[in-house]
Amino acid sequence: MKLGCCYYPEHWPEEIWADDAQRMAEMGLELVRIGEFSWSRIEPEPGQYDWDWLDRAIDTLSQAGLKVILGTPTATPPKWLVDQMPDMIAIDASGNARKFGSRRHYCFSHRPYRDECARIVTAMAERFGKHPAISAWQTDNEYGCHETTISYSHAAAAAFRVWLAQKYDDDVQRLNAAWGNVFWSMEYRSFDEIDPPNLTVTEANPSHVLDYRRFASDEVVSFNRLQAEILRAHSPGRDITHNFMGFVTDFDHHDVGADCDVATWDSYPLGFLEQFWFTDDEKNRYARQGHPDIAAFHHDLYRGCSNGRWAVMEQQPGPVNWARYNPAPLPGMVRLWTLEAMAHGAEFCSFFRWRQAPIAQEQMHAGLLRPDSVEDQGGQEARQAADDIAAIGPLTDTTKSVALLFSYEAAWLFEAQPQGQNFRYIELVFETYSALRQLGLNVDILSPDARFEDHQMIIAPSLPILTDDLVSRLSDTNVPILIGPRSGSKTADFQIPPELAPGPLQSKLPIKVTRVESLRPGLAEESHGEGKIRWFEHIATSLTPERMLKDNTPMVFQSRNIRYLAAWPDAEYMKEIFHKMAMEAKLDLTTLPQDIRIRTADNVRYAFNYGQESVDLTTIFSGADNFKFIVGSSNIAAASVSIWEQI
Ligand code: GAL
Repeated sequence: MKLGCCYYPEHWPEEIWADDAQRMAEMGLELVRIGEFSWSRIEPEPGQYDWDWLDRAIDTLSQAGLKVILGTPTATPPKWLVDQMPDMIAIDASGNARKFGSRRHYCFSHRPYRDECARIVTAMAERFGKHPAISAWQTDNEYGCHETTISYSHAAAAAFRVWLAQKYDDDVQRLNAAWGNVFWSMEYRSFDEIDPPNLTVTEANPSHVLDYRRFASDEVVSFNRLQAEILRAHSPGRDITHNFMGFVTDFDHHDVGADCDVATWDSYPLGFLEQFWFTDDEKNRYARQGHPDIAAFHHDLYRGCSNGRWAVMEQQPGPVNWARYNPAPLPGMVRLWTLEAMAHGAEFCSFFRWRQAPIAQEQMHAGLLRPDSVEDQGGQEARQAADDIAAIGPLTDTTKSVALLFSYEAAWLFEAQPQGQNFRYIELVFETYSALRQLGLNVDILSPDARFEDHQMIIAPSLPILTDDLVSRLSDTNVPILIGPRSGSKTADFQIPPELAPGPLQSKLPIKVTRVESLRPGLAEESHGEGKIRWFEHIATSLTPERMLKDNTPMVFQSRNIRYLAAWPDAEYMKEIFHKMAMEAKLDLTTLPQDIRIRTADNVRYAFNYGQESVDLTTIFSGADNFKFIVGSSNIAAASVSIWEQI
């Protein structure tokens, strides 16, 4: 794995570029990402390019032996362009314009803006595409950041109508039937009558919402593809990537990833812990480390997006600026996160950013260097990580243990109709993943369309739209499979299937969901004697349940190798089920203490301590005293890593 950093030569006087470049190389960095917000400097006036400074920046970095990942600047269209076409900006769900003055102020559906993007990307690619220092391209920056996937602009409405007409073969009656528009006299007489589903009096029709989400996702995919095709044509042999985000499900990353050579993502473990659904206990316990599964979850998710090739484009180097609270990582965590990326197979890990900026929005965001250029804690740990990586050497990883099936469409569907305010699909998947990892298992998070036939255990936390094809692919395997609640509960049009849930799965597992309940916190305790059940299903079946709740309510049903879980229970309950399945699959199980996680890459095993106390590995692995350690020892300090060879 290589190390790198994100650098903005346009933010700094040219006199210090060479010194910066040299210091990067001396720190052990080999890659540098530049350019992704530089449009106003490469084209200060319409049609007048100024490449000279960028030529010099790339040459300076290259002279220090660094390879450059060049970003296309389309996340920050300059003021003159916005003034030229003011309707290119996105409109939010309340109908407000998302104005110039920060970034991502464009609507994916605005065709003339796309033409401008094609123009600037072509110009950049012609200029730098064959430059020997350019090793890869990043398209745009973080699609979806600041909630920018969905726009309700005129451009989006027009493109949506075209998309719908295509989907429904120009037959608006088909759309009316698919959406059930008779319900509240919502029937349309032509596609021209259809608006985006915002500003309705009460909730919009969920079928309408789901199609809008599919459309918005397709717009991101085609926006990205336009750039990828230009870059591929002008810059042969260079990888194309996009930097995805944490816990963002607003567009189908599998689809965007299919047009990239490498999926990359931006890892901010402390910010994500603070911003997402974690409990106060978890936020306090892991405030300076991040929850032990946050980074790994995304590593394993994005590894499944571009044929197994992935990397970290932005790694948190110290406190960030954008979460509700922004503590500093414990000493050791930047190194730990870096080595964890390696353990999961990252091709590189690049820190955001080289030096903390004294200007504008991100003044409070740490870099590897402080604003006065003194090396910060992050820089010191990057240096240590570079030494560790050299000691570990190249890794191979061919193990295929657990496949976790993840669908972006499922996330949109549950957002359109959650039926309980705490039914968050991404949280269900994360909890499932975390339960598997607490058993020491390697997990691959895969699209349901991906190949999972080589895996030894398959978990689908929930797939509301189950196809016959998927059911037959699953039942063709002989490995233990668990299908979670709400699976098969909707048709592709967002209707209840005539045979009821779990839809086509009933042909393999004879159960029928007759009623569902979402439960407020505490209610399950009262009714079932079991804590933390937030979703519960009543099942009609002649099967004897495999597992029941404390009050004998049936919960898990099994037929052959397929199980159905008729609830969203807590992590401990999930762990018990997974433990049994992993035993059946003969997987190597290790029940880990709360703060320890492991990852096995063929014959190398990594252990990460997310806790504040050291842990004696002999209490987890018998014989740990005699392990052949490559890094660390059998006593793993707080915020530290031990790595050993498996015999
Ligand atoms: C990312 C973004 C970067 C920078 C960073 C700060 O979301 O891609 O440009 O803003 O966050 O943490």
